[in-house]
Amino acid sequence: MSFKESNVYECSVSELPQISNRAGNITPLTSNEEIPFDIKRVYYLYDVPGGESRGGHAHRDLHQLIVAASGSFDVVLDDGRIKKTVSLNRPNYGLYIKPGIWRDLTNFSSGSVLLVLASLPYFESDYIRDYREFIDLKLKYTR
Ligand code: TYD
Repeated sequence: MSFKESNVYECSVSELPQISNRAGNITPLTSNEEIPFDIKRVYYLYDVPGGESRGGHAHRDLHQLIVAASGSFDVVLDDGRIKKTVSLNRPNYGLYIKPGIWRDLTNFSSGSVLLVLASLPYFESDYIRDYREFIDLKLKYTR
């Protein structure tokens, strides 16, 4: 049920732990502690040309936490009714995204690294890549 019911207000940025050392910081992340799900997959996106955009899809069941491990970018969230833009630019902040949220990634700074902690392995069948289909699934047959 969470696909249809999720909304952009439930996708929020939280501060992650930061252990400060003499030379640098460490952010440790553990399933079901700082991360509100079991982490099944980690991936990172890099070498995106500065100013570029990516994304343009929603997930049926996947929960994600997105971190700007380096540099900055914006995440435009859309639940079919409301859009919200979140800027990520520090490695000790993470954006939690529920299933059923369309996301576009924009304004990458050059050299940025987008780190994703995901609740499921990669399944192409979990993606919705067509915006009309997303809107139909999200908004049709709602009481
Ligand atoms: P995708 O998530 O579609 O990125 P974007 O929506 O930003 O273009 O991923 C691009 C390609 O990478 C896609 O063909 C599938 C592949 N891929 C994997 O094989 N495993 C993964 O975990 C991810 C995230 C992508």
